[in-house]
Amino acid sequence: MKSSEIRTKFLQYFASKGHTIVPSSPLVPGNDPTLLFTNAGMVQFKDVFLGHEKRPYVRAATAQRCVRAGGKHNDLENVGYTARHHTFFEMLGNFSFGDYFKREAIHYAWDLLVNHFKIPPERTWITVYQDDDEAYDVWVKEVGIPTDRITRIGDKPGGQKYQSDNFWAMGDTGPCGPCSEIFYDHGPAVPGGPPGSPDADGDRYIEIWNLVFMQFNRDEKGELHPLPKPSVDTGMGLERIAAVLQGVHSNYEIDLFQDLIKAAARETGASDLSSNSLKVIADHIRACSFLVVDGVIPGNEGRGYVLRRIIRRAIRHGYKLGQKRPFFHRLVDDLARVMGDAYPELPQARERVAAILKQEEERFAETLENGMRVLEQALARSEDKMLSGETVFQLYDTYGFPVDLTADIARERNVRVDYAGFEAAMQRQRERARAASKFQMAAAVDYAGRPTEFHGYDTLTLEATVVALYKEGAQTEQIQSGDCAVVVLDRTPFYAESGGQVGDRGELAGVNGTFAVEDTQKIQAEVFGHKGVMKTGRLKVGDKVTAAVDTWARHHAMWNHSATHLLHAALRQVLGPHVQQKGSLVDPYRTRFDFSHPAPLTPEELRRVEHLVNEQIRRNVEVSARIMKFDEAMKAGALAFFGDKYGDEVRVIGMGDFSTELCGGTHVKRTGDIGLFKIVSETGVAAGIRRIEAVTADAALEHVQKQQEQLETIAGLLKTSPQDVPQRLAQIVENVRQLEKELNRFKAKLATSQSDDLAAQAVDVKGVKVVAAAIDGAGAPALREAVDRLKGKLKSAVVVLGSVEGQKVTLIAGVTSDLTGKVSAGELVNYVAGQVGGRGGGRPDLAQAGGSDPAKLPTALKGVASWVRERLYK
Ligand code: ALA
Repeated sequence: MKSSEIRTKFLQYFASKGHTIVPSSPLVPGNDPTLLFTNAGMVQFKDVFLGHEKRPYVRAATAQRCVRAGGKHNDLENVGYTARHHTFFEMLGNFSFGDYFKREAIHYAWDLLVNHFKIPPERTWITVYQDDDEAYDVWVKEVGIPTDRITRIGDKPGGQKYQSDNFWAMGDTGPCGPCSEIFYDHGPAVPGGPPGSPDADGDRYIEIWNLVFMQFNRDEKGELHPLPKPSVDTGMGLERIAAVLQGVHSNYEIDLFQDLIKAAARETGASDLSSNSLKVIADHIRACSFLVVDGVIPGNEGRGYVLRRIIRRAIRHGYKLGQKRPFFHRLVDDLARVMGDAYPELPQARERVAAILKQEEERFAETLENGMRVLEQALARSEDKMLSGETVFQLYDTYGFPVDLTADIARERNVRVDYAGFEAAMQRQRERARAASKFQMAAAVDYAGRPTEFHGYDTLTLEATVVALYKEGAQTEQIQSGDCAVVVLDRTPFYAESGGQVGDRGELAGVNGTFAVEDTQKIQAEVFGHKGVMKTGRLKVGDKVTAAVDTWARHHAMWNHSATHLLHAALRQVLGPHVQQKGSLVDPYRTRFDFSHPAPLTPEELRRVEHLVNEQIRRNVEVSARIMKFDEAMKAGALAFFGDKYGDEVRVIGMGDFSTELCGGTHVKRTGDIGLFKIVSETGVAAGIRRIEAVTADAALEHVQKQQEQLETIAGLLKTSPQDVPQRLAQIVENVRQLEKELNRFKAKLATSQSDDLAAQAVDVKGVKVVAAAIDGAGAPALREAVDRLKGKLKSAVVVLGSVEGQKVTLIAGVTSDLTGKVSAGELVNYVAGQVGGRGGGRPDLAQAGGSDPAKLPTALKGVASWVRERLYK
C-alpha cells in the first residue's frame, strides 16, 4: 500500500467514525511561545484540550506535518544512524475532546490495524502505563491480547513520578497523560527485544501507534492539574506504518523515501543507494522545505538556527559524497512531486523554498571547505580521541559549523567532543541567546479564573477589578511598590500583543497605589496579562482600579496598523496577488511589513504604493469591523495571514472596497485619521522576501521635514538653493574629476623630476646601482613611472620607491633584466612591505605592494642596500 493511500485510508476510517478531518497546521505553532515546532498532531488542539478554546466538533482526525529537532523531542542527532528517526515526519492522529476515552480509542486503533490494514495480530505487542488497569483490561478482556504480549511500563528508575515511556507530554508544560503503545514485531531476523525488556532498544519491536489518554495540564512548577475533560490524542508515524505495510524494515525503504534517495543520489553523483548520507539528505530536505514553507528562515537564533543546523548538516553529507557545489535546493522539485498532493502549500512555494535553501548553501559553501580542513587537522591530532572545546568553538564561530554538525563528523571517526570546553568558550554568546530566547511559558499558566473581557476596541479607560497577581512566576495576593508583576483584570481596555501589533502600555490606578503597565500579553488564549512595575503603594487581588491605556502610544499604533492594511492592499495592486504577508510588527513608532516578492521594488513602484495608500487616506472611508463565520469571510475575499490561528468566528476589518483582512487589531474609525503615510525603507530580508518600513501621521510629517532640513543643510554647504542642489552637485563632481586628473599629471611630473635627483643619489653595490627612497604623496602610477625611468637611466639597477598617502603605504620595486637572476623585485618588495605591515608581489622585474605603517618606512628603506648586497654575494 502506497504511503498516500495509507494517509487517505486512515482519515477516511476516522471520518466514518464521526471525526472531522482537519488540515495539518503549520510547523510553527500559532500563538504558542512554549514550543519551537509542531512536534505532534495534538499541538494545534492544545487549547482545546486545556478547555480554553471551543471547536464545533469533539472528534477530529489529522495527517500532521511534524518536526522533531531542537526542542524537547529532538531526533536530529539520530537521523542517518537508525532505521526510524526523522527530523520531519507525518503523524496520523485521531482526537477526542472530552468525548470518547480509553475504551473507544483502543478499539478504533485495533479495528483499523487488524481489519483494515490487515496486520497479523500475533505480530503486535502492547504496552500500558504501570497502574492503568483500565487500559490493560480493555486490551486483555475486550480485544483479547494474550497476557504474555502486553507489558506494564513504569516510571524510569531514579526519575520522578510519570517520567515514563508510557506517559506522554507535549513539552515541559501543557497537556499530558498516560499512554498505551502498539508495537510491531519485525521478526527474529532483526536484533532487539520486546518493550520493557533489557534489549528493547533494538530495532525488532517498533512502536507504531501511541494512544495518549490526556488527563492533566502540567504547570511551570511541574505540578499536574486535571484537565476539564479526559480526552484522547493518538499518533501513528506514517513512515513507520508504511514500512510495516510495505513489508520493509527501515522507514527509508518506503516508497516516499526511495524517490527522494534517488533524487539525492542524482544530485550528489553518489552511486551507492544504501549510503547513510543519502538518507540524511532525503530526511533533511523534507524538514527544511516545509520549515521554509511555514515561514522559517535560516538565521542565528531560535527556529531559524535549528533550520540552519539541519540545512548545513545536509550540505555536509553532500560534501562527504563528493558534491562540493550547491545541490540541496534542487531536491525541492522532487519533494514537491512526492508530497505536493497531500500538502499543496509546498508546490505553491517551490521557487521561494529553493531560493532560500540555495542562498544558505552558497553562504555555507564559503566556509565549509576551510572549516573541514581545520577539522580534519584537529581530528588527526586528537590522540586521546577527544576534540577540544576550542576547536569546536572555532568551527562554530568562524566557520559556521553548528556543534551537532561537528559532533556528527567526529562521531564518524570515533572521536568524542569536549562539550564542557565548548560550553566554556560559548558562555558569553549563550547568555545573550538566553536573554533573547522567547521560548518560555509566560507566567500564570495556573490561572483558572474566567477569561478577560476585552473592551479596548471601544474605550481606552474603564473601571476593573484585580482578579489575579503574579510575581516572579508565582501567584500572589498582593504586590508592593517596586515589584515587577503581571496583573490579571476581570475586564480591560488594554490590547494584548497579537497579529503583529504590540501590547498596550498605560496605568492601573487603585486607591492604594499605581501600577505602570509596560506591556500587555495574552497569558492564556483569552486571558490578558498586564506586565509592569508597581510604581507607588500596593495592589491586592480584589482591588478596584482605573485601567487607562496610554493614548499616545495606542493612537500611534492604531494609525500604523490601519496603514499596514492599506499598504498590503496597495502592494497587491501594484505588484500582483503573489504578495503575501510574511510577518509584521506594528508599534507606536512605525510599521514593519515583510512580504513575498522576488525583487527589490523600483522607485516607481514605491511611489505608486505610497500614492495609492495616501489616496485611500484622503478618501477618508469608514473602517468597519465585523464578526463573521470564517467561510463567509473567505467568500468575501478577506486576506487571511499565514501562521495565524483562526477560530470558527473571525473579525474582519474592511476599508471601503480597497482592503478586507482578518484581524484582531485596533483600527482607526476612518482612514483619514492616519493623516499621512510615508515609506522610510525597502530592503530584502531573505530570498524572495522584502521588507518595507513606513511611518504615519506626525511621524511621517517629521520624516519629510527632516529630509527637507537635510536638503537645506546640503544646499547651504553648496551655497545654492535646494532645487538647484542636483545640478550644483553634478558640477562639483565633474570639477573634482578634472582636478584629480590634473593632480595625477602633476604627481607624475614631480616623480620624474625627483627621479633625476634620485639617480644621482644611487648607492653603488658591487657595480649595481641601488635606489631606495620615498616620494611623498606620489601614488602608484607615478611611482611606477619613476621606477621605469630610473631603470632606464641607471642601466643595471635595483630600485624600490615608496609613497605615503594618509595611513597607506604604496611600494613599487623594479630590477633591470640583467639582474633578475639574482635579485627578484617580488622578493624585494615583500621584504620592505613586511616591515611596514603589508605584503605584495609581482614579476621578477617589477612588483607592487601595500602597507599600513608609514612610520616604519624610512628604516625599511634604509635596509635595502644591505639586503641587495647579500643577494649579490650569494
Ligand atoms: N501526541 C502523541 C505522540 O506524539 C500521540 O506520541
